[in-house]
Amino acid sequence: MVARNQHMITLSVVQFFVSLVFAVVFLAAVYMAGGLVTTSFDVINRAKEDGDVTLLFSGDDSECNLFSGKWVFDNKSYPLYKDRECEFMSDQLACNKFGRQDLSYQQWRWQPHYCDLPRFNATRLLERLRNKRMVFVGDSLNRGQWVSMVCLLDSSIHNPKMKFLNYINGSNLISFKAPGYNASIEFYWAPLLVESNSDDPVNHRLPERIIKSQSIEKHARVWTDADILVFNSYLWWRQPHIKVLWGSFEDKNGIYKEVEMLRSYELALKTWSEWLEIHVNRTKTRLFFMSMSPTHERAEEWGASNDQNCYGETDMIIKDGYTSPGTDPKMMRIVENSIDELKTRGLRVHILNITQLSEYRKEGHPSIYRKQWDSLSEEQLSNPSSYSDCIHWCLPGVPDVWNELLYAYIFQQ
Ligand SMILES: *[C@@H]1O[C@H](CO)[C@@H](O)[C@H](O)[C@H]1NC(C)=O
Ligand SMILES: *[C@@H]1O[C@H](CO)[C@@H](O)[C@H](O)[C@H]1NC(C)=O
Ligand SMILES: *[C@@H]1O[C@H](CO)[C@@H](O)[C@H](O)[C@H]1NC(C)=O
Ligand SMILES: *[C@@H]1O[C@H](CO)[C@@H](O)[C@H](O)[C@H]1NC(C)=O
Ligand SMILES: *[C@@H]1O[C@H](CO)[C@@H](O)[C@H](O)[C@H]1NC(C)=O
Ligand SMILES: *[C@@H]1O[C@H](CO)[C@@H](O)[C@H](O)[C@H]1NC(C)=O
Repeated sequence: MVARNQHMITLSVVQFFVSLVFAVVFLAAVYMAGGLVTTSFDVINRAKEDGDVTLLFSGDDSECNLFSGKWVFDNKSYPLYKDRECEFMSDQLACNKFGRQDLSYQQWRWQPHYCDLPRFNATRLLERLRNKRMVFVGDSLNRGQWVSMVCLLDSSIHNPKMKFLNYINGSNLISFKAPGYNASIEFYWAPLLVESNSDDPVNHRLPERIIKSQSIEKHARVWTDADILVFNSYLWWRQPHIKVLWGSFEDKNGIYKEVEMLRSYELALKTWSEWLEIHVNRTKTRLFFMSMSPTHERAEEWGASNDQNCYGETDMIIKDGYTSPGTDPKMMRIVENSIDELKTRGLRVHILNITQLSEYRKEGHPSIYRKQWDSLSEEQLSNPSSYSDCIHWCLPGVPDVWNELLYAYIFQQ
C-alpha cells in the first residue's frame, strides 16, 4: 500500500517537473544588447572554520549588506550536499548526474563585503522549524530553491523513514515532511501569485497569459497560516502585455483587457500585499520575497559571440557589478514599493536581493545537462545551445546560497 502510493507520487512528481521545465523555458524574454568591459575580480581560496560565524547585521539599514559581496572559491566546504545522494533532487537540476563534468560551479561561497554569513547547519534549522510550516510560493525558480532547501536538510536526516514527499495528483502543493521534527517544507505553484491561466501545475504551457489581478484567495488560503513564507514572481511576467480578466475563467462573458506588463504586475502585487495585510498573523508568520533570478540566454551581453548563450560556460562573469540588460529594475522597484507600503502598515516583508549575486553566475545553469523530456532532433543535437536551459540553476549551486541568505534571516532576531 505504502509502496504503491509512493510510486504514484513519483510519477506525478515527474509530470510536475516536466511541465515546469517547459513552462519556463518556453518564456521568451525581451533583451537589449549591451557591451561589457571586464576588470579583475578578487578571487581567493578561503575555507571556513567549523562552527557558526557571527552575523554582523541588525537589519536592512545596517552597514552590512549581505547581498553586496563576492564569490570565493571554496572547495573545502562546498558543495553542501551531493546531487546523487539527495533522493529528492530534481532531474531538471541535477547537472552532474546528467553529464556535466566541470564541477567548480558547485564550489563557490558567497562572501558579503563587511560581514560573514553564518554556516548553514541543517539540524539547527530543522530544530527551528519544529512544529512549523515553511512554504515557498511562486514559479519554477522558487521550486528550484525549495529543492535546494530540501536537499540541504535531507543530508542531516539519516533515517530514510523520517523524510518523505507528500503530493496529491493535480495539486499545486508539494510538501517535504520531516516527521521527527513535525516540520513541513512546501512548494506551492502560483507563477503569477494571483490567479491565472497558468495555475495548473501540469498543463500551463499556454500561448497567452491571462491573470485575474484581484483574485488570490484560491491560492492564498493554502499558505496563509504558514510560519515562514518565501515568495517569488518574475519570469512569467516577461512579455509586453498581460491580459487581465474581470469575471471567472469559466464564464464566457468575462471581460478581458490588455494591460501593459508593469501595470499588471503592480495590480497583482497590490492584491498580494492587501491579502497579506489582512490575513497574515504578524506575530507568527515571517515573510520573504526573492528578487529576480537573472537569465543568461544572450552571450553578447557578456562579450561572447552573439549566437551563443550559457552553453559551454565554465567561469563566472568577473566584472564587478555586472547586470544583464535583460534584468528589469523597474520590476524590482514595484516589489520594493509594495513592500515599503506594507511596512508603513506594520507588516514586514524582507526582500532577499539575490539578483546581483546571481548575475555573475553565467556558468551556473543546467544548459544541456539535465533530463531531456523530448527526444532531440539531429539539428538540435548539432547545435547544443539551441536546447540549453539558461534560466534554472544547477544543484548543488546558486540556489543553495539563496538559502544560506534565507537561513541568515531566519536566525536574525
Ligand atoms: C548544528 O546545530 C546543532 C543543533 O543546534 C548543534 O548541536 C551542532 O553542534 C551544530 N553543528 C555545527 C557543525 O556547528
Ligand atoms: C581544491 O582546489 C585546489 C585548487 O584547484 C586543488 O589543488 C585541491 O585538490 C582541491 N581540493 C579538493 C578537496 O577538491
Ligand atoms: C505539527 O506542526 C503543525 C504545523 O505544521 C502544527 O499545526 C501542529 O500543532 C504540530 N503538531 C504538534 C503535535 O505539535
Ligand atoms: C493525475 O491526474 C491527471 C488528470 O488530472 C491524470 O491524467 C493522470 O493520469 C494522473 N496521474 C496519476 C499518476 O494518477
Ligand atoms: C497569531 O499567532 C500567535 C503565535 O502563534 C498566536 O498566539 C495567536 O493566537 C495568533 N493570532 C490569531 C489571531 O490567530
Ligand atoms: C538590490 O540590488 C540591486 C543591485 O545591487 C540594487 O540596485 C537594488 O536597489 C537592490 N534592491 C533592494 C530592495 O535592496
